[in-house]
Amino acid sequence: MANITDKIKALKKQKNAIVLAHCYQPVEIDTVADYVGDSLYLSQIASKTNADIIVFAGVYFMAQTAKLLSPDKKVLLPQIEAGCRMADMLSYKQLKDFLSQHPSLPTVCYVNSTAEVKAECDICCTSSNAEKIVKSLGKSKVLFVPDTYLGKWVEKQLGNVEVITYPGFCPTHLQIRPQDIENARKKYPDALILAHPECHMSVSAVADYVGSTAGIMKFVEKSKNKSFVIATEQGVTDRLIRDYPNKKIIPIKSHLICPNMKMTSLEDILYVLETEENEIFVDKEIAKRAVHCLDRMLEVSK
Ligand code: 13P
Ligand code: SF4
Repeated sequence: MANITDKIKALKKQKNAIVLAHCYQPVEIDTVADYVGDSLYLSQIASKTNADIIVFAGVYFMAQTAKLLSPDKKVLLPQIEAGCRMADMLSYKQLKDFLSQHPSLPTVCYVNSTAEVKAECDICCTSSNAEKIVKSLGKSKVLFVPDTYLGKWVEKQLGNVEVITYPGFCPTHLQIRPQDIENARKKYPDALILAHPECHMSVSAVADYVGSTAGIMKFVEKSKNKSFVIATEQGVTDRLIRDYPNKKIIPIKSHLICPNMKMTSLEDILYVLETEENEIFVDKEIAKRAVHCLDRMLEVSK
């Protein structure tokens, strides 16, 4: 009897389906993934694919974004319960209240948000292009939702734009404290510390490099350094350990996981490919406005 990965591969072929996997997914998901990467890369793939079915191994907003970018495709989320705690912090009503407190300012929306929120914003961004997106607006003041730390990181990088942020955050990245960085510096003096911009500013401020999940992985690939402390979700650490056996990869703390990202299993992927359940739909009117926000982002990120 064919094993589970063989069955998934056969079904992908039969149904002209692809599997996209975010780098926070359990590492075994890569065995069936056609593309593995960060939010920006996977959105770009979703917008260009010729596949009939996209299975998004990630969380809800990612599958929803893929549907917005590829409305004619069938988009399936292996675990329909897999949400994003940061995206859940900003409802449509909370966004409207926030916008009414700061009228007439352009609003940048982190892709970790609902379609309803995207529909009310001017442009979307991911962690790898946030700086470029905010800069592209050419304004001295912008609103940024829902991640306060990514917004403030961008403000610091640009230096000449005031970024007013909504107080959302990622509970996984906020587990990393400046004390963890200090301890790592003492314990591993030769290691470079690489952090995701969803971390608290007191962490990003003292890291050697701050970048998206793919940015961190690329940094390790290119760097001549031999050891690295990784300050982001464990999926990145696991992939780096697998891919660079000759480098020393140290997690900033053990069990730093996003519980939603870890819900997906190979069995779930097989199940949605067999049944085509857990399809993502977006209201047409909302989709029309939300996709504008994503299209603008992809245009600027080209
Ligand atoms: P990136 O994929 O942009 O690095 O973002 C990380 C994240 O939290 C996705 O949920
Ligand atoms: Fe959301 Fe944080 Fe999980 Fe990313 S790591 S999906 S921001 S809760």
